[in-house]
Amino acid sequence: MPNVLVTGGAGYIGSHACKALTDAGYTPVTYDNLSTGWADAVKFGPFEQGDLRDRARLDAVFAAYQPIAVLHFGALSQVGESMREPGLYWDNNVTGSLVLMEAAVAAGCEQFVFSSTCATYGDQDNVVLNEDSPQAPINAYGASKRAIEDMLSGFEAAHGLRHVIFRYFNVAGADPEAKVGEFHQPETHLVPLILDAIDGKRDALTIFGTDYDTPDGTCIRDYVHVCDLVDAHVLGLKWLESGKDSRVFNLGTGSGFSVREVIDHARRITNKDVPVVEGLRRPGDCTKLVSGSARAVSELGWSPGRSTLDEMIRDAWRWHQTGHYDK
Ligand code: UFG
Repeated sequence: MPNVLVTGGAGYIGSHACKALTDAGYTPVTYDNLSTGWADAVKFGPFEQGDLRDRARLDAVFAAYQPIAVLHFGALSQVGESMREPGLYWDNNVTGSLVLMEAAVAAGCEQFVFSSTCATYGDQDNVVLNEDSPQAPINAYGASKRAIEDMLSGFEAAHGLRHVIFRYFNVAGADPEAKVGEFHQPETHLVPLILDAIDGKRDALTIFGTDYDTPDGTCIRDYVHVCDLVDAHVLGLKWLESGKDSRVFNLGTGSGFSVREVIDHARRITNKDVPVVEGLRRPGDCTKLVSGSARAVSELGWSPGRSTLDEMIRDAWRWHQTGHYDK
């Protein structure tokens, strides 16, 4: 089975990608510094611990495994943290990606699938975004991902590094078999925080802002099931393997849900009360981020069939009750 280097394979999305790659006949080789990931989450292939900024370590891993492609998930990804500590994001995400791309090119590995984000679009009220929408990030996380997209263009022009860029909307849910799932410490994402509030692991869910210009005053996001999301990456890998040109794809569903709507769905799916407190806006948050996914559907043949809010919350709830990683 051909090897694929998966940076961030010990994290939430990367670990699900490793499972999907295994199912599709590849061997995922996880490369992760465990700064936010979990060794326990590496269940589907070899694990090489290392930092993206460590060129010598990367060179050794490329030489040992001769991967046919890189799936690059490894990154810091918290919008709020990126506003407080932008340097961390430029260093980990941008410098780390630069060193990774240089190592890949030096090793002759010229197929690269990159996790980007809808945060590169910034705040564009009441627009359904597509891949040609202007990019104007309003936080350092989005800016760091935007910069990496630019680097990829330069590396393709100069060194032939063909790539697929996926701009994610809000990823939620978990492996339906609960072998892997979402587990961040500290947790900042809406769905797991709601589930924590439901089962008493936290006192209440704080809604960050109720005065946005939306029907119920809370922010609107486009939620996509993590299993659908990683399936797109396997399709992206096959796209590159078939010799096609570099391409950017949004991964969302085109449907937006407000924070209050997500809470209501969670209440209904779990049949439990969600303690809620109304709080201030969180710096860096956009009012509404919703994607068109027509390009991924028509060109990649992607079909986000599990991305209903009910299924995402049901799978997240199953994982929440049965799965966890040790520190
Ligand atoms: N929210 C709350 N309370 C919380 C946590 C979140 O009200 O305790 C709200 C946020 O304000 C936001 C929504 O729930 O309106 C979703 O927040 P998340 O933190 O779950 O997700 P974000 O939209 O902030 O971030 C996600 C990804 C990022 C990506 C970003 C693009 O985690 O990687 O989408 O905006 F960049």
